Amino acid sequence: MNSPLDAAVAAALEGRDRAGLLRRRTAWRPTGPVTVERDGREFVNFASNNYLGFTHHPRLLAALRTAVNVGSGAAGLISGHSAVHATAEQAIAEWKSCEAAILLPSGYQANLAVVQTLGAIANNGIEKGGVRFLIDKLAHASLLDAVRLGGHAFRIFPHNGLAKLERLLADAPKEQLQVILTESIFSMDGDAGDLVGLAELKRRHPFVLVVDEAHGSGIYGRHGAGLIDELGVREAVDVTVITLSKALGLAGAAVCGSAGFIQSVENFGRAYIYSTAVPPLTAELATEAVAVCREEPQHRHRVRMLAKRVRGELAAVGLIKFTDQSADSPIIPIVLGEPARALAAAESLRDEGLLVVAVRPPTVPPGTSRLRVTVSAAHTDEQIKQLIAALSLVPSPGTPGEG
Ligand SMILES: Cc1ncc(COP(=O)(O)O)c(C=O)c1O
Repeated sequence: MNSPLDAAVAAALEGRDRAGLLRRRTAWRPTGPVTVERDGREFVNFASNNYLGFTHHPRLLAALRTAVNVGSGAAGLISGHSAVHATAEQAIAEWKSCEAAILLPSGYQANLAVVQTLGAIANNGIEKGGVRFLIDKLAHASLLDAVRLGGHAFRIFPHNGLAKLERLLADAPKEQLQVILTESIFSMDGDAGDLVGLAELKRRHPFVLVVDEAHGSGIYGRHGAGLIDELGVREAVDVTVITLSKALGLAGAAVCGSAGFIQSVENFGRAYIYSTAVPPLTAELATEAVAVCREEPQHRHRVRMLAKRVRGELAAVGLIKFTDQSADSPIIPIVLGEPARALAAAESLRDEGLLVVAVRPPTVPPGTSRLRVTVSAAHTDEQIKQLIAALSLVPSPGTPGEG
């Protein structure tokens, strides 16, 4: 007889399946920075965040081989923090032009730690009115989850909707700390946060600005420091979150900010405090990945050039709107509408030996299921041509679909 859990599991999964939203992992075997294999067939990978090809960079593979110990053995405040971690945190802070940085096991956890820290500070008597988070509608799930889990007051503002944001700020009680949560490059849309507009807004209203630079780091700015650096708005940003898992080709994350804020994360960021410190191996690789980013600009130049080329070609066949001629982030969404349509398009690309994922609700809003194409500096010109040829056969969003 089915246990109550089995029955609940079956009902939940059936519901997802009926809506065309059931998810399933595939066990791929990576065969290079942009190729994966399954059942003897190789696919070109346009579905990874390995924007610079660093997962297979020779310098990082060499650093991997000389590692002394694998795990850190304890949380950072116990004995897990080491000189190797301190070196990596300093390298990241200098790269980001911040006073300090702190490593965490994932970007999800880093965002949780930032929100926990801000919540604790605001409720600690420094700001008597508590805190309210103002979240861009398209901000990553980890930011929203962090705020909801903490039970904090929050408002979601329209994507890059600065007029609405200004009204919310103008009406906010003086003693309540206002915190804006946004991204530099949005993970599912590949467009940029209006960081210049936010910097201007900050001249008129007091607020804390937190920017998740998961997808801008390594691609933009001097030495790949990120979009904040490229736009010259560093002074307006209080806290930056970076992941090591995207352009840097590793896993893990860092929170960057003032020395005082980073010390606050050590004291109030429960997601940091109660979790084992990242492996020293990760820290060592992070130091090396930042050094490679500084010393080898050719990777970010190439990925931006390829991203711009792909956008131009897809706009020419009506698959995307390409209004901003400078748009060159590696994330290129092709919005197709209903889940079945995105799944069918992904399947037809798979038949051509190309791996592109269909992203469906709840990751993206209903009616905006899409192909999320990501390009990498490691893609060859030939692979890019293959992608464009195959995508040109996908019915454009205006064509009636199967719903
Ligand atoms: C914008 C953004 N923030 C945070 C994360 C979470 O990072 P991680 O995968 O390291 O948990 C991701 C993606 O995974 C992301 O796209």
